[in-house]
Amino acid sequence: MSTVIKSGTIVTADMSWKADVLIEGDVIVEIGEGLKGETELDATGCYVMPGGIDPHVHLEMPFMGTYSSDDFESGTRAGLAGGTTMVVDFCLPNPDGQGLLDALQMWDNKSTRANCDYSFHMAVTWWGEQIFDEMQTVVRDRGINTFKHFMAYKGALMVQDDEMFASFQRVGELGGIAMVHAENGDVVADLSARLLAEGNNGPEGHAYSRPPQVEGEAANRAIMIADMAGVPLYIVHVSCEEAHEAIRRARQQGKRVWGEPLIQHLTLDESEYFNQDWDHAARRVMSPPFRNAKHQESLWHGLMSGSLSVVATDHCAFTTDQKRYGVGDFTKIPNGTGGLEDRMPMLWTNGVGTGRLTPEEFVALTSTNIAKILNCYPRKGTIRVGSDADIVVWDPEKEKTITASSQQSAIDYNVFEGQHVKGLPRFTLTRGKVAVHDGEIRTEEGHGKFVKRAPNTPVNKALSTWKELTAPRPVKRSGIPASGV
Ligand code: URP
Ligand code: ZN
Ligand code: ZN
Ligand code: ZN
Repeated sequence: MSTVIKSGTIVTADMSWKADVLIEGDVIVEIGEGLKGETELDATGCYVMPGGIDPHVHLEMPFMGTYSSDDFESGTRAGLAGGTTMVVDFCLPNPDGQGLLDALQMWDNKSTRANCDYSFHMAVTWWGEQIFDEMQTVVRDRGINTFKHFMAYKGALMVQDDEMFASFQRVGELGGIAMVHAENGDVVADLSARLLAEGNNGPEGHAYSRPPQVEGEAANRAIMIADMAGVPLYIVHVSCEEAHEAIRRARQQGKRVWGEPLIQHLTLDESEYFNQDWDHAARRVMSPPFRNAKHQESLWHGLMSGSLSVVATDHCAFTTDQKRYGVGDFTKIPNGTGGLEDRMPMLWTNGVGTGRLTPEEFVALTSTNIAKILNCYPRKGTIRVGSDADIVVWDPEKEKTITASSQQSAIDYNVFEGQHVKGLPRFTLTRGKVAVHDGEIRTEEGHGKFVKRAPNTPVNKALSTWKELTAPRPVKRSGIPASGV
């Protein structure tokens, strides 16, 4: 079966031009003028862009005594509805001693229902010889080159600095990339206990317990530890100027560090936590919390200047009933918000629509940059002959008001409720299959395939060459004096 996308403007991270795109099976086979195929998709007035890649999602995640409510089926359906054609989830071994391979089996089982392609990051939630050994199998046999470390969630997923340093060194040795959730978990635990003792038990307590300093400190610590371990570092959900400043400084010093803001932090602010309605505020509880306008501007400037590299969602959706586990104690509100369906339209509207971003920068931030960082480029992340036909045909004139009543996500609300977006998919294709056709959802459960990602990316090679060149060496001396005994 061949499909041709006709009369659109192709947008890649490099350039835009008018051309048709011919697809056969899973891949793009030709780009040019006057192409013909068995099926035609009319892209007149549209941009033809690589489908979005969301590198940070938690589908059916076991967390805080429950499971996030979007699974690989509803989560990837939501993604496709909004123009995202690949997601990367986090495999989380139980910190009570579960092995990496055992945990991967569980993630393999859950992900068979995916509607679009997906990959995994591996989390290091405890440290020991078994983890050290299994990391090699994870990289070499399972095609996972990214290892996440939680510096927060004390008593659960959090790891200590010595564990992180050991793990980072191992990741570097294996040609992988270290990732961190950067918040100082010890300080958060202390501030939370104090707030609760003072009677601050509502959702606003969550924001008070995680000020920008806890994020800035942890981001800087992770950057320094990664530098000493000789490993590239990717910092997830960067929400504030303090963390952005640490990343900016590190990049200016030649360190290999990337920062990932979320669409939620770019467009929603901390006033949400002071809403009179407990449910409203609790539904927005996530870590790090939403910040004020100063931090939002910092994030936008980072995207515009290149000091921040990727926009993700951290999609981790809990229903209102699940959020109510934390009535009377904000530390028990499951942390997480949705966003998979809304990331692309919200970023287009608030980025391209305002002149902060060009369409090419939009493509870079939603797809190309992360495909390169994660080492699945150019199979993913661009429009070129031989690439997977993961494509969104983007209609810049199509508008809607976001509302939970028409969303694909399984939860009962949407944190972007009432936001008006202009710029939406006309068609979304996942490896050549049309999954969204002019507003109609035609996803196919199980269509998604696992994307293996090899280690030793060009950045790994450059960094290890530099570290080798500058490694400590004994000074060769002609004569050594007798010891002064
Ligand atoms: O609050 C959040 N971000 N929930 C998901 C887990 C994580 O920390 O990424
Ligand atoms: Zn996190
Ligand atoms: Zn996350
Ligand atoms: Zn299929």
